[in-house]
Amino acid sequence: DPLELADSHGRIASDLRVSLSDRCNLRCQYCMPAEGLPWMPREEVLTDAEMLQLIRIGIEQLGIRTVRLTGGEPLLHRGLEGLVAGIAQMRTRAGIKPGIALTTNGIGLATRIDGLVAAGLDRINISLDTLDPERFKSLTRRDRHADVLAGIEAAVRSGLRPVKVNSVLMRGVNDDEAADLVEWAGRAGVQLRFIEQMPLDAQHGWSRAKMVTADEVYAAVSARFELVEDPEDRRTRGAAPAELFRVAGTEQRIGIIAAVTRPFCGACDRVRLTADGQLRNCLFARDESDLRGPLRAGASDEEIAERWIRNVARKLPGHGINDPSFLQPDRPMSAIGG
Ligand code: GTP
Ligand code: 5AD
Ligand code: SF4
Repeated sequence: DPLELADSHGRIASDLRVSLSDRCNLRCQYCMPAEGLPWMPREEVLTDAEMLQLIRIGIEQLGIRTVRLTGGEPLLHRGLEGLVAGIAQMRTRAGIKPGIALTTNGIGLATRIDGLVAAGLDRINISLDTLDPERFKSLTRRDRHADVLAGIEAAVRSGLRPVKVNSVLMRGVNDDEAADLVEWAGRAGVQLRFIEQMPLDAQHGWSRAKMVTADEVYAAVSARFELVEDPEDRRTRGAAPAELFRVAGTEQRIGIIAAVTRPFCGACDRVRLTADGQLRNCLFARDESDLRGPLRAGASDEEIAERWIRNVARKLPGHGINDPSFLQPDRPMSAIGG
């Protein structure tokens, strides 16, 4: 029995990240151009039934234990609640309900969070890069700051814990807000995580010089707050991308996701499925395995599982961003999932 998604570097993939749609109602500068992108044609996007079948194979046969739904913007997918409910019915081979998580920009979340929790959602991560509505407008090219804040508030009210908020800082744009965001997060009762910007934008405009590094974020926050590392957080980190720090004298934790300057690929447990049914081992993978083709051609679950196993087996040891020969993947982040 293989029945585990092992690669040749000693890692086992047990966290499936599914992109439900490549579309988004924001146009964050570090993600896509103002005019948007050529979206995937409808017929290439998996139906909900197809998505559930692939997710079921992962959970029931291949050791997937957690599923994170992403986008683009997953709330734009009408069937989201139904998908969550469908996944919540599934059981791993050990008989355990899979963990179900959502990564969203928060727009429209306020009116849907209760339904999502009722359907079986366990964890939620929401993106917010600035506390200033005008800045939000120029950063995301949409005037939706209040909607996002309402979404975060509703998530906190729903009782899901921790509510995580992701921020990407950009030099000269919002990097002066690091400590303000930490202060806000403390009041809002959310776990704020700063993410180093990665070369995944559709415009291929990333540069190392423009990236605000983990060390810079740490220094900026430390100018106002004393950060301490909790040995227990370090011990329990596992495959998590974020290094956690406690704000001294409080229970507040913040995270730093140093994807570029301190890569965490060695502990990676992730595998990704795109909305058009392609399996990817990594955000930065240069090849994919097509699962939609075989699925639509009537392949058996076993044949699809076999393809999936073969794909993960060739997962590369790291993302290679720091290699001289690094090439950005053709697919932008919005079509892979965060
Ligand atoms: P939890 O810690 O379980 O909440 O999940 P997460 O931190 O993976 O969730 P989220 O979707 O919020 O991811 C936060 C960010 O971490 C993503 O948007 C990426 O920027 C980064 N990230 C997540 N997984 C990977 C990965 O495999 N490689 C790299 N380089 N970055 C990742
Ligand atoms: N680098 C790092 N993070 C990114 N995100 C989107 N594009 C990038 C990038 N190029 C973040 C979003 C969101 C999460 C899903 O990924 O801000 O918080
Ligand atoms: Fe949309 Fe996320 Fe890209 Fe922003 S970062 S435009 S929310 S996909």
